[in-house]
Amino acid sequence: MIIIPKHVKNLSPYKAGKPIEELAREKGLKKIVKLASNENPLGPSPKAIEAIANHINSLHRYSSPKTLRLVNTIAEKYNKLPEEIIAASGSDSLIQYIVSTFSVEGDEVLSSEGTFIGWYVSIDKYDRKSINVPLNNYHIDLNGILERITGKTRIIYLANPNNPTGTMFTKSEFENFMSRVPKEVLVILDEAYTIYAEDIPGYPNGLLYNMENLIVLRTLSKAYGLAGLRAGFAVGPAYLIQELYKMRLPFEPNSLAQEAAIASFNDDVFLKETIRMNKLSLNMMKDKFDEIGIRYIPTSANFYLLLFPDEEFAVRFNEECLNRGLILRHVKNFMIPNGIRINSGTKEETEFALKIIEEVYFILLDN
Ligand SMILES: Cc1ncc(COP(=O)(O)O)c(C=O)c1O
Repeated sequence: MIIIPKHVKNLSPYKAGKPIEELAREKGLKKIVKLASNENPLGPSPKAIEAIANHINSLHRYSSPKTLRLVNTIAEKYNKLPEEIIAASGSDSLIQYIVSTFSVEGDEVLSSEGTFIGWYVSIDKYDRKSINVPLNNYHIDLNGILERITGKTRIIYLANPNNPTGTMFTKSEFENFMSRVPKEVLVILDEAYTIYAEDIPGYPNGLLYNMENLIVLRTLSKAYGLAGLRAGFAVGPAYLIQELYKMRLPFEPNSLAQEAAIASFNDDVFLKETIRMNKLSLNMMKDKFDEIGIRYIPTSANFYLLLFPDEEFAVRFNEECLNRGLILRHVKNFMIPNGIRINSGTKEETEFALKIIEEVYFILLDN
């Protein structure tokens, strides 16, 4: 018998939002809307689809090991040096590479309660000692995190806007924070939702900083609509990025993901429509939540965190929505047991979702 390491035995696998086909099979429903994984409801950019079609016949070839065209495209777009950039199969995989590259078993890492589940999963996988500071009114408590830094702290993880709360910290809060973090502590700034937030006054764009202890993460999974392909990238000082290259699996992201990413960066029309649709859907949701009295946290991203009286209410709410064909995300595993997250959809999806939400909410209030 092989002895399984204790920390692996204790792991719970990443729990994603329920796939549409699975719910359809389980419940025999005709119509299903999924607003559970913060995906882009418009689908991928038509330019990405075209790029994939153009490269499909080269699938028998390995891609460029340093993903040169993609890295150069990112460098040009964000005015960075190619040595400051590494791409991989999603920012989730970059989080794992960063943890395994810059810390060892038993090191302390710091973050927040109520943040991205992928961070918690990575930390447990690598058996790091993790400290998670409670949220302050559903915002990441930067001062609280500063107070918990010790000589053993190696990495701090911050998502801005944060998932699942949708809240953000400002440029001045971030700069004050960075000025007080020791230079030996690496800060990961995860900007998965930055495209939805960058027009908000005071939002700090991480790619405008050049700091020796800062790595910024971006993903193609959200506004760019490529979640299924798996592509993300990290930007940081070259001396850190070169170490990540040693740990990354060769040929990540896959060749089609690279081509689709390059094409998506060139589709401003698609991005504009994505932002327009997001605002429209979130406004429809806000109006309905205000009308029927569901509590939600104001958002800077493409989703709302809904808050219910307790965990049991949230579980039942989620279940009743599923029964009617609406997939949402209960965020207990993000350490918010009474929370349900809903992301923006098309107008039609949003109307469908709000009808179900209203119906279910009043049924549960009456019981
Ligand atoms: C804050 C945050 N970071 C990273 C990710 C994962 O992105 P990717 O699909 O690139 O792994 C998500 C997805 O939900 C997220 O919310």
